[in-house]
Amino acid sequence: MTIHIGAKPGEIAETVLLPGDPYRAKWAAETFLTDVTCVNEVRGMLGFTGMWKGNRVTIHGSGMGMPSLSIYVNELIKDYGAKTLIRIGSCGAMQEKVAIRDVILAMTATTLSTPSRGIFKEINFAPCADYGLLRAAADAAASKGSATHVGGIYSSDVFYDERPDLNEQMIRHGILGVEMEAAELYNLAARHGCRALAVLTVSDHLITHDALPSDQREKSFGDMVEIALEAAFA
Ligand code: ADE
Repeated sequence: MTIHIGAKPGEIAETVLLPGDPYRAKWAAETFLTDVTCVNEVRGMLGFTGMWKGNRVTIHGSGMGMPSLSIYVNELIKDYGAKTLIRIGSCGAMQEKVAIRDVILAMTATTLSTPSRGIFKEINFAPCADYGLLRAAADAAASKGSATHVGGIYSSDVFYDERPDLNEQMIRHGILGVEMEAAELYNLAARHGCRALAVLTVSDHLITHDALPSDQREKSFGDMVEIALEAAFA
C-alpha cells in the first residue's frame, strides 16, 4: 500500500492505462478486460487489474490536472513498478482541421508550468511521447478508421482559462488540442525510464465551440481504450 493506492505488492501490472475519471476506469476494465480485480478504492480513485489478449493490464484513474496525476503516477512507477503508462482522456480542439470525436496522439506536451517546474527551473524541458508507443497507436488508430492527428498538445493548469492570449498563442503555433495532464506524465516517464503516451478524443472545440454529445462519449472513449491497449502490446 502507498499513501494513495491501496493495492498490495504485485497487484498492479507493468502496463497502466490512465483515464482521468475513476468511473471510466471501472467501465473500461469491465468492458475490455477479463479476470478483473479492483485494486484501489482509496479516496474513490478506482483502479482495476485484469487481462487483455493474454496481457496483464491495470486501468487506474489519474484525477484531473497535473498535481493529481503526479501523485498516482509517482506511486505507480516508484512503488509498483509500472513501466508503460498511457493516458486516455478528452481534450479541446485548437485547430480548424481537428473535429469533434477525432483522435489526437500527443507527440509533445507544452505547458506554462507543471509539478516538475521546481526541478527544471529555467530550463524549458520538452516532454515527449515514447516513439514506439506513438507509432503503434497511430497504426492502431488507422486500422480502426479513426480520424487521427499526431502532433503537439497543450497541458493547461486551468479549465476555465481567463487568459485567452495563451490559447491564442498555442493555436498560432499549431498546437492540436488542450488537456490538463499529459505533460507531467511525460516528465515523470522521462525521469524514471518509462514509456508514456497520451491518446485523446476531442470532446469540445475552442474555435467552433462544438461539443461531443453525451450519448457519443462512451463510443469515443471505447475507441481510445482499444487504441491504447493495441499500442501497449504491439
Ligand atoms: N479537456 C477536455 N476539454 C478541455 C478543455 N477545453 N480545456 C482543458 N481540458 C480539457
